[in-house]
Amino acid sequence: MSDILTHLEGSVLTITINRIEKKNSITSAMYADMAQALADAEKNAAVRVVLFQGHETIFSAGNDIADFLNKPPSNQDSPVFHFLRNISTFTKPVLAAVAGPAVGIGTTMLLHCDLVYAGDNAAFSMPFVNLGICPEAASTLLVPQMMGYHRAAEVLMMGEPFMAEAALEVGLVNRVVPPTEVNSYAQAQARKLALKPLSSLLETKRLMKQGQAELVKKQMAEEGAIFSRMLQEPAALEAFGAFMEKRRPDFSKL
Ligand code: COA
Repeated sequence: MSDILTHLEGSVLTITINRIEKKNSITSAMYADMAQALADAEKNAAVRVVLFQGHETIFSAGNDIADFLNKPPSNQDSPVFHFLRNISTFTKPVLAAVAGPAVGIGTTMLLHCDLVYAGDNAAFSMPFVNLGICPEAASTLLVPQMMGYHRAAEVLMMGEPFMAEAALEVGLVNRVVPPTEVNSYAQAQARKLALKPLSSLLETKRLMKQGQAELVKKQMAEEGAIFSRMLQEPAALEAFGAFMEKRRPDFSKL
């Protein structure tokens, strides 16, 4: 079975991250599939709303770390950046249902979703600094805007997880529900949206986002270039090597 599943029903395209044995970590091939699913959904009049979901125990452990070592995203054509461009510019409503850990891009992709529902076991984290890299997805712009500079500095510099209730408080999620219900709750919300006039939804989303669309694009491109460079540097190589060898990284000489 594929690691990315798509299912269209009632005008809602559900994209499921389905690599549970590796904690839904995302490989280049999976980013390519999700980027393509969004590109197709943009053009397909039968799709009015998109919903991303994972499993009730794990949304995503972020980028596949072995991929970071073997196939690092080296330029803007890389699948991860393609996916981020597509989700950040997608014109129709996008929802996400998050339960369990949402690490790295598992959290930053949510900044580009319109509605986010979380299981009470959801744990959001952006541990880019702990991996010797920098944040992506325009999170260095959008996270401070969302939660204020100091709280943003805490989540982006310390990289520690914050739970669903804290995410609700800062505005990252819309509602917290039991983990076993999050996918079905989000699906019901997606169906409600799909019954509304699409042109009104599209204009509302466009008007809310247009003020900083260019800024988001620019920030994302700059982060992406730095991210690609830092992936090759000693701190990141030590962090990824440590993860693969199941040991603590040693940054003391870096
Ligand atoms: N990339 C590749 N493999 C990953 C992965 C990742 N990001 N996250 C988890 N896995 C793999 C583990 O290596 C392990 O594989 P194995 O069974 O072959 O040894 C398997 O998934 C289970 O992971 P494990 O760490 O044992 O699960 P857990 O329930 O104890 O912890 C997480 C879950 C998500 C908290 C933890 O796996 C984690 O922190 N992962 C790394 C997150 C990360 O740093 N992502 C990069 C963000 S940019």
